[in-house]
Amino acid sequence: MLYYGNIEEIENDIERVDAYMAEYLHDTSRNPMLNAVLETIIATKGKKVRPLLLLLAGRFGPQWPGSRDRLCKMGACIEMIHMASLIHDDIVDDAPMRRGRETVQSRFGKDMAVYAGDYVMSRILYYLFREATPETGMLLAKTVESMCYGEMCQLTCNFNTETTKSDYLNNIYGKTASLFIATCRIGAAESGCGVQSVEVFSEIGKHIGYLFQLRDDLLNFVSNVKREGKPVFTDFLNGTYTLPILHTLSHPQHGSRLKEMLQTVGLGGSSTFELEEIRKLIIQCQGIEFTRSMMKAHAADARELLATLPRKQAARGIYAVLDYLEGE
Ligand code: FPP
Ligand code: MG
Repeated sequence: MLYYGNIEEIENDIERVDAYMAEYLHDTSRNPMLNAVLETIIATKGKKVRPLLLLLAGRFGPQWPGSRDRLCKMGACIEMIHMASLIHDDIVDDAPMRRGRETVQSRFGKDMAVYAGDYVMSRILYYLFREATPETGMLLAKTVESMCYGEMCQLTCNFNTETTKSDYLNNIYGKTASLFIATCRIGAAESGCGVQSVEVFSEIGKHIGYLFQLRDDLLNFVSNVKREGKPVFTDFLNGTYTLPILHTLSHPQHGSRLKEMLQTVGLGGSSTFELEEIRKLIIQCQGIEFTRSMMKAHAADARELLATLPRKQAARGIYAVLDYLEGE
């Protein structure tokens, strides 16, 4: 769990989000195989950044009896959307591990993982129809559409050294920022914030979403496997050229050198030495620095927007999330 500044009762609410997720993913068929799949999904718990942000944004409105509980239910649905998307993403990436654990596709096979992701989505649909307002349901439907669109556009850029930074930013807006926008927006709207504050929260969500994905992409070059539970270099080996690579490709002197090197990677022949050479070139061309500066800019924009909202204790929690993400 992330540090969130000890905001009153948030921990209780996060526990309630967990309880709703367990309820929503409960296997009603008692099929041992399905049960094992669902247990794997539930056990692969993440940091729950999205429910946390939703709950924190939800402290900004006047609230009413029952609104806290609804926020927990919406937090569970949003985290489940994220979980379903990762189950499918791991199939596409052929990823053996996530968060230090075996992925659903590696443990149960790709076919089962496709159905498992769909199964989670079907549960989300059911509980959104049962619990959410039509506005929240429609927003989340549109968000999943954006996520799919972002992933499809990213796929069309695969192994393409002509991909622009603007293509990349559009892709991460769809695949990641859109769900953060919905998260913050729903938190604010469901707690009764005014229209203006809801819009401000949407913008905050957008900046946090960009920051989150830029950080994730940077960690693919600089992380250690132990901390994040993910291997390094997988993005560009899979043909996903993220900002450190794109910035280096646009370098007037060394861009063409990286292009040549990536062609060898594309052919599947890359030694540890070559990967190290690529990393060195990225560092030399400020690919890492440039990505960090962009992360800082998004964190600063989010903080500035937060400062325009009425002062609430929960703001401390959002600042803590920003500090965590910005600090890698
Ligand atoms: C991880 O990104 C993946 C996403 C942020 C979104 C994936 C979205 C979909 C598969 C479409 C939506 C599908 C459903 C079922 C809602 P990454 O690959 O950059 O991060 P990683 O390093 O954690 O794999
Ligand atoms: Mg992935």
